[in-house]
Amino acid sequence: MDVAVIGGTGVLGQPVVAELLERGDTVRIVSRSTPVPGSAAAALLERGAQHRAADIRDGDALAAALQGVETVVDASNDQRAARELLVEGNRRLLATEAAAGVAHHVAISIVGCDQVPLGYYRAKVEQEQVVAGGPVPWSLLRATQFHQLIDYLFTAFARMRMLPSGAARVQPIDPAVVAAHLADAVHAGPSGRRPEIGGPRVQTLGELATSWREAHGRRLPKAPLPLPPKLGRPLRAGALCTGAAATGTPDFAQWLARAGERAAGAGGGESVSEASGAARADAARDDAARDDAARDAGTRRAGARAANTLHGDVKESVSR
Ligand SMILES: NC(=O)c1ccc[n+]([C@@H]2O[C@H](COP(=O)([O-])OP(=O)(O)OC[C@H]3O[C@@H](n4cnc5c(N)ncnc54)[C@H](OP(=O)(O)O)[C@@H]3O)[C@@H](O)[C@H]2O)c1
Repeated sequence: MDVAVIGGTGVLGQPVVAELLERGDTVRIVSRSTPVPGSAAAALLERGAQHRAADIRDGDALAAALQGVETVVDASNDQRAARELLVEGNRRLLATEAAAGVAHHVAISIVGCDQVPLGYYRAKVEQEQVVAGGPVPWSLLRATQFHQLIDYLFTAFARMRMLPSGAARVQPIDPAVVAAHLADAVHAGPSGRRPEIGGPRVQTLGELATSWREAHGRRLPKAPLPLPPKLGRPLRAGALCTGAAATGTPDFAQWLARAGERAAGAGGGESVSEASGAARADAARDDAARDDAARDAGTRRAGARAANTLHGDVKESVSR
């Protein structure tokens, strides 16, 4: 089957492309930037995928990129311009697909996005409505947060000598597992809302912080993530979690261990690679020396700023 993966260079897009190639599909990656030689995305081109540079906001380039495509998987994302890409961009994408004769649009959304008052999640709900009311027969899968997102959160806080903690519950999943479900949807044909999928374990942010700290050999203190009640309540109640757990797939600690092994094998360079060898010992010593400073109020304020940066709109939620 001829499949275009919009955002095929991203965290989810790459395993989607890999999975479709594995299943014998002809795959066209569509994104704004051409994969850099030596990158993981460039390796997909060596395996047979093609790349078309196009911006979802540019109708002509998009139309050219979709010629001859039977199915589109939309794995694009832009946290900073969520509504522009996921809502307005999706309307344009679907109209362009309809004009190009695309028979099936496969969309990805987030478990519980309609339960948690964040602007990004509101954009995801709107994106779902655009897809369901659009001109192209569709399938839609909701998944929980990817391991990379949780790793990113802790890495961002670690720069400020602390880790966010608390009882907010998440169920991180390996995007390769989500990619397999999306490839199933591609081959099943238009099937509307598909059964949602989540990671193998529901864990609190505090438990995940402990796993991250152990994987990295860090001694950073944990501090509660400052969340407004209307956000904290649904997160503690598990609004982002699902009973549909992908059992037998890596949980966060196992994913971190494998990412560390991969990074060490590749000669380092990624954040997880700090978990190994001398870097790990240095980090632990460094942390011990700075523990006291990390507990002061200034650091906590810095943590709150990082939370705002990650969610983009926690501030917006507080003020409403
Ligand atoms: N991250 C999570 O935890 C999570 C969980 C559940 C569902 N999801 C959903 O999964 C999807 C993918 O998320 P992700 O985290 O994999 O995203 P990502 O890693 O940020 O990748 C985004 C991709 O979209 C492309 N892109 C961005 N703007 C574009 C534009 N204007 N035109 C064309 N391509 C564009 C990017 O390439 P260029 O920048 O080169 O264009 C990149 O390939 C999103 O719908 C997200 O809501 C994510």
